[in-house]
Amino acid sequence: MKKLALAVMISGTGSNLKAIIEAVKSGTLHADIRLVVSSRPEAKGIRYAKEAGIPLLIMQKSEYKNPQEADQKISEALKQAGVELVAMAGYMRKVTEPLLSAYPDKIINLHPALLPSFRGAHAIQEAFDFGVKVTGVTVHIINEEYDQGKIIAQEPLKVDPTWSIDELERHIHDLEHRLYPQVIESIAQGALSE
Ligand code: GRF
Repeated sequence: MKKLALAVMISGTGSNLKAIIEAVKSGTLHADIRLVVSSRPEAKGIRYAKEAGIPLLIMQKSEYKNPQEADQKISEALKQAGVELVAMAGYMRKVTEPLLSAYPDKIINLHPALLPSFRGAHAIQEAFDFGVKVTGVTVHIINEEYDQGKIIAQEPLKVDPTWSIDELERHIHDLEHRLYPQVIESIAQGALSE
């Protein structure tokens, strides 16, 4: 079976990168992770790429002074690696034109809430503080606006009123680690092709 040429973009812990790597290893995700891009040299998730022997592009903070140049560099590396789909997993930089036009509708993101509720970087905390009874996880296509691209998949999570914020976070992350590789697999099987 043909494998989807995938790149994963991270900035932090990389637990979703880890889940994607494990899904590939276990054979449930038919993808070849060609490149991991980290926006931060100190991102913890870099170690998962290293352990798995995946090529890495580590960006320096100074390179983002010019976001278009940074994204030009990233898109060249992605194209050179033959990447077909880019999965953002905790990548904390806004994506600009050179990258968007290199991969139209082929950059996806994972968000720890049910969009359009709780956009932004503190979604789990804000949903918790709001006292929602149901939250969840969204996978969507990236466009110029934060957290506003077309939704590909969502899964709800019923919030147990006894949960602490840490417990809610754990349940959200467990859900992400299951859902994201599944959604990428559905794309590998043709879900995003016209
Ligand atoms: C995830 O909660 C994801 O929804 C959000 O950033 C977090 C990344 O976590 N966009 P990790 O770096 O994959 O552990």
